[in-house]
Amino acid sequence: MSHKPRPKSKILGAGHYMPPRVVTNGDLATKYGIETTDEWIQQRSGIRERHFADEGVTNSDLAAEASKRALEAAGVGREEVDCILFATLSPDHEFPGSGCFLQAKLGVPGIPAMDIRNQCSGFIYALSVADGLIQTGRYKRILVVGSEIHSRGIDLSTRGRDVAVLFGDGAGAVIVAPAEEDEDRGIYSVHLHADGSYAKELWTEAPGCALHPSRITRQMIEDGKIYPSMNGKLVFLHAVRKMPEVMLEALEYNGMKVSDLDLFVPHQANIRINEAVGKALGLPEEKVVNTIAGFGNTTAATIPIGLSEAVRQGRLRPGSLVGLAAFGSGFTWASALVRW
Ligand code: UT7
Repeated sequence: MSHKPRPKSKILGAGHYMPPRVVTNGDLATKYGIETTDEWIQQRSGIRERHFADEGVTNSDLAAEASKRALEAAGVGREEVDCILFATLSPDHEFPGSGCFLQAKLGVPGIPAMDIRNQCSGFIYALSVADGLIQTGRYKRILVVGSEIHSRGIDLSTRGRDVAVLFGDGAGAVIVAPAEEDEDRGIYSVHLHADGSYAKELWTEAPGCALHPSRITRQMIEDGKIYPSMNGKLVFLHAVRKMPEVMLEALEYNGMKVSDLDLFVPHQANIRINEAVGKALGLPEEKVVNTIAGFGNTTAATIPIGLSEAVRQGRLRPGSLVGLAAFGSGFTWASALVRW
């Protein structure tokens, strides 16, 4: 069904923050003792290095820095923020949500703070919630953050190397506000999907309340059940199919074509996935934003980081039509179409 685009909400600005410590592929082999090589990691994933947060720095610390930068880019004071949506799979603690820790760090008490747990699709899911909340008329300046500290949740040993070498720490944020009546700029649509029958193909089993009689055992820790496990090939196959499909769904919904896109900001899991997705869509390379070489996979943070980097590089300008697409654990997948 085609639909005449009339955005109800818009993104006022984006910011990101990467913790300063850089860990190269070589460091994973020499400093962490993982049996891997720079060549294997670059060939299979396109990653050269990633950032790891230092001891004492938390996910909500990264998020606070990214939020300050997004507020500055948007020209919005922190006291104007009236809602926080925090997408992450690596929260500071089991509960409360990291949104509450971020709210305290930003010094904006009283406003709602909600965590969104949809992993690699988490930022687009959060954007959809923001768009819906703006449409209720009750919120005017929503802070949407994607932030992760993976370096403490992956198995940084040879046993976990298939997953561990892919992930990094980082945060990105945007400010979402109502669009004016006659404005062309804004979020045209967000499309969300999930298929829970694949939930265990990319997941962390423990700790969890599905486990009886306690949420975790010493044996589970020893067996590495506290780390993510991934059926890499299956995830890859689904990602290269679903990301183009969901981007085309967005374009069709808005009566637009791939050639209308000025920029495409995909989730960053693997350069080979993004090349395949770009090719399937028929997008020239210069329209695809890739940050994976320097940052690795930062899950919910990849898309706001990509937006912020694209602005910094002058590739995303006022009036640009940008497509966003993600695929990941759940399985979940999602897209958004935005006039910047
Ligand atoms: O954001 C969440 C979504 N995640 C994704 O989208 C990731 C999707 N999957 C992928 O990107 C790829 O499947 C991987 C990068 C994870 C793996 O690439 P692959 O080409 O599918 O490699 P593979 O799993 O077939 O592994 C090939 C070999 C294996 O050895 P054998 O069995 O062929 O002897 C692995 O044991 O490479 C070995 N291997 C490694 N070698 C060096 C696995 N990890 C490593 C490593 N260093 N880090």
